[in-house]
Amino acid sequence: MRPLIAGNWKMHGSLRESVRLAEGVREGVPGVDLLVCPTFPHLHPVAVALLGSRVAVGAQDCHAAAKGAHTGDVSAAMVRDTGATHVILGHSERRQNHGETDAAVLAKTEAALAAGLVPVLCVGETEAERLAGRAEAVVSAQLEGSIPYGFVTSGGIVAYEPVWAIGTGRTPTEAEVAAIHGTMRHALVERFGPAARTTRLLYGGSVKPGNAAGLFALEDVDGALVGGASLVPEDFLAIARAVPE
Ligand code: 13P
Repeated sequence: MRPLIAGNWKMHGSLRESVRLAEGVREGVPGVDLLVCPTFPHLHPVAVALLGSRVAVGAQDCHAAAKGAHTGDVSAAMVRDTGATHVILGHSERRQNHGETDAAVLAKTEAALAAGLVPVLCVGETEAERLAGRAEAVVSAQLEGSIPYGFVTSGGIVAYEPVWAIGTGRTPTEAEVAAIHGTMRHALVERFGPAARTTRLLYGGSVKPGNAAGLFALEDVDGALVGGASLVPEDFLAIARAVPE
């Protein structure tokens, strides 16, 4: 399967900076799919800047409802209408800062699929959960609780992002990443059948040009969801070039 390198730009940058960043990665990397996820107000201008390129655009969240009295929220159809094709859902920063439960993430994921968006569903344990030996159980429960029917056949993507590895410069060992990705693959194939063998499983959390190749060499790691390093075009492209040919 073609690997995917996705950049989560979080709440960074002016409009001009986001468009510049998009232009900086527009050329892409042969054999690798790229996705960039700017903040809502930058979605359409970034999508315009990337027209005709192979770099896709995604949002960082959407609402579960198709429309209605939801001040400040953005529906999946509105995201789609900007030219975006993907949406990150269930990121730990949303789960922590906005109290998003698995049930809420499930509802958003269903809304994304209904609007024709490809969800990038995030799961991952906290440091306390890992130290308690519960990482695999936590991730399995999040997958079970937040992935709807139709996810696999619609090309849904899963990102494993250990909360304690995000923005910290720390990562799990390669063996730990391989173990979780193997568990996720097994759980998805059990539930959705052989089609889930082609579901892309990304790793996220302090991915840099220097550690990317080791991660991408692991079985069942089909790319990365990159935060900080995705804000520097050279670093983002260097991570994409670290994908084995
Ligand atoms: P960092 O790459 O900055 O650790 O962020 C990871 C992340 O949260 C991507 O969604």
